Parts: sequence; C-alpha cells; structure tokens
Amino acid sequence: MSRRKIIAGNWKMNKTPSEAVELINTLKPLVASDAADVVFCVPAIDIIPAVEAVKGTKIAIGAENMYFEEKGAYTGEISPSMLTDAGVSYVILGHSERRQYFKETDEDVNAKVRKAFEHKLTPIICVGESLKQREQGVTIDFIRQQVKIAFSGIESENAAAAVIAYEPIWAIGTGKVATTDQAQEVCHAIRACISELYDESTAEKIRIQYGGSVSASSAAELFSQPDIDGGLVGGASLKTDFGSIVNY
Ligand code: PGA
Repeated sequence: MSRRKIIAGNWKMNKTPSEAVELINTLKPLVASDAADVVFCVPAIDIIPAVEAVKGTKIAIGAENMYFEEKGAYTGEISPSMLTDAGVSYVILGHSERRQYFKETDEDVNAKVRKAFEHKLTPIICVGESLKQREQGVTIDFIRQQVKIAFSGIESENAAAAVIAYEPIWAIGTGKVATTDQAQEVCHAIRACISELYDESTAEKIRIQYGGSVSASSAAELFSQPDIDGGLVGGASLKTDFGSIVNY
C-alpha cells in the first residue's frame, strides 16, 4: 500500500503575523504539489492570518502545541477548540523543544494526543533520542517507549490517521542530518512498534516523518526510504528551499 507523503514546516518561534502572510505568499506557488500533503505549522498568533492566506490552496495550517484541557484557568494556553475554530487541522505535539524547555512529559503528550483526536485534529507526534542515548545504544528502546506512551488509550482508527515525526535531537537545527540508514532504521522500528501495539494494517497506514536538518539536498534520498513518509522541516521551511523539499 502506498502512503501519501506529508511534508510539514515547523516555523517554531519565527515570523510575526504580517511576516507570516508575506512568507506564505512567497511559498504558495512553490509548494503546490499533487503528490504530497503540505502543512505549515505556525506560531499561535499567526494562525488566523495564515489560514486566510492559504485559502484557495491545498496547504493546511497546523499549530505547534496545544493544551489538553477544554477551557478554563490555564493562563497562556491554547485549547483544541480554539485551534479547530480558527481553521487548524494539524498540531505538533511533544516536540523535543517542548519536552526540553517546557518540561513536557510522555504523559502530557499522551493527554494531548487523546484531546487532539477528540477534536478531530491530526497530531504530528514527535519522538527522538539525544546524542547520549544514541551513543549508549538505547535509541530504539527509548523511542519505543515514547511511542507506546503517546499512543496509550488511542484506538486503532485514530492511530492509523496519526503522523509520527522521528526527530533525533542531535540533528535538530544543527545541520547534522541523520544518515538515510539511521533515519530509515528508526522509522522502521516505529512502524514495527505500531504493528505490535495495534496490527499490521494500522502500521501500514500511519505516516512517519523524518525531521532534523532536512534540506533541499537531503530530502529526496530521505523521503524515498520505505518507512519515511515525508518530513518535519524547521529552518528550511522559512525559506524558498521549502518549495524544493516539497517537490523533492
Ligand atoms: P530543523 O528543525 O529542520 O531546523 O533541524 C526540525 C524540527 O525541529 O522540527
């Protein structure tokens, strides 16, 4: 079975609302593709103008985070229905920067994944090992644990529709992209883990991205691996290079 590629930009904390519109207008003609789903994950304050700016295209807008409560006294947080009402269809959950700087745990990520599905948002669930873990040879064990907890209590129909982004922490923003073999090995292990948790057909449907210093020159080889269904792109998603990545 062939899975549709999904290529998402993770803008992180870059671009004001007016800059966001400008960037989208630049990228719009460059990222038109019938072969892949294209998503721009933008800062919360850029969501509304971004949704407006992509109208009439197939580009989807995603958020970079979300809280797991419906509403209430959680100063500074964004709820799932705020996202859906604004026109968001994807949400990045458990990015390593959220885990590292904002102390998000695997349990928090699981609560957010559950909430995302309740609201029909597609989560892009990030997992990935540190350099130390890679050197200690515990990469696969660690990632299997992250996946198992993230999917705890998630039904197979939802799991099949999820996106997982394998992002080795040592490759993020460092220009040090994982080798194709390293990326394929872990993405394959993630799919095997989903097959164990659910079944073969769920594992065949779920889309697994690679992320970490993806560039116009590395995209084609990475995305042609059997278990890599696209990419989560940081730095290069803010440049016209993103067009070359989408049309790898
Ligand atoms: P990068 O970021 O492409 O700049 O390495 C990827 C990410 O953090 O999603």
